[in-house]
Amino acid sequence: MTGVVNGARVAGDDVAGAKAVAAVPLVVQHVAKSYEVDGRVVPVIGDLSLTLDHSQIVSIVGPSGCGKTTLLNTLCGLLTPDRGRISWYGREIAGQPQNVGYMLQKDLLLPWRTALGNVMLGLEIRGVAASEARDRGHAMLDQLGLHGFAAHYPSTLSGGMRQRVALARTLVNEPAVLLLDEPFAALDFQNKLLIESDTAKLVREGGRSLLLITHDIEEAVSLADRVIVLSKRPTQVKAVYNIALGIERTDMMAARDSRDFSKYVRQIWADLDVVLQ
Ligand SMILES: Nc1ncnc2c1ncn2[C@@H]1O[C@H](COP(=O)(O)OP(=O)(O)OP(=O)(O)O)[C@@H](O)[C@H]1O
Ligand SMILES: [Mg+2]
Repeated sequence: MTGVVNGARVAGDDVAGAKAVAAVPLVVQHVAKSYEVDGRVVPVIGDLSLTLDHSQIVSIVGPSGCGKTTLLNTLCGLLTPDRGRISWYGREIAGQPQNVGYMLQKDLLLPWRTALGNVMLGLEIRGVAASEARDRGHAMLDQLGLHGFAAHYPSTLSGGMRQRVALARTLVNEPAVLLLDEPFAALDFQNKLLIESDTAKLVREGGRSLLLITHDIEEAVSLADRVIVLSKRPTQVKAVYNIALGIERTDMMAARDSRDFSKYVRQIWADLDVVLQ
């Protein structure tokens, strides 16, 4: 059967939807990963499977040290899994996947480049003409509320602003998929809400997909279509929640005000089984 789903997933083959499955941005099947420490094998990812679909936001929460960063690094091709399969758009991972933006918790801006210079970096490396890179960089900074700050160096920006510049640098390359590892963890509540809303808008309106790792259960629920709760190390999926809040999913305050929001937060909190020390 041939079909177009959501205008994005294209099946051009008659083999029972095989291509439809193939076009899913990210499929992870039974991935395992361990580290070797002082000659000892330490299993970190036990057995993990997940799917990230088109225009979907998936949040991953899990206890500290359970292997979330290890998972993201594996999905980016920076680490090789011991077992299992990772497929980007139906193709087994080979090196760093194309069209995937990765942003770490630390903003890692280059201090000797201005905000605009940092945002333009990826475009310059890809050989985009300087004038086009500048225009796109300015437009992205404006979109993230940084109009007038293009010429500022990172040292003269607040933490929230630096985080926005880092996000602009990731988004200006127009990646189809974003992988974010605790990108907003260091921000105060107000800034966090603003940047979460901007991120949700840019992802949802741009038809992108986002895999977000976070410690913040409220952030996970307010942003995502699905929340995956991981177990302790060696980690596996402990629970999956499809988040239905019945509201516009780009307004983080409205998400928090919605009827079922705290129900999800409480359930995930219980799953995480956090023990106060
Ligand atoms: N390069 C490495 N070599 C050996 N062990 C490592 C390495 N990187 C991480 N680990 C160990 O693997 C486990 C998982 O680390 P990872 O950073 O993936 O966890 P995490 O879930 O991201 O933690 P956090 O929530 O604190 O960010 C930890 O026990 C960590 O000490
Ligand atoms: Mg981590």
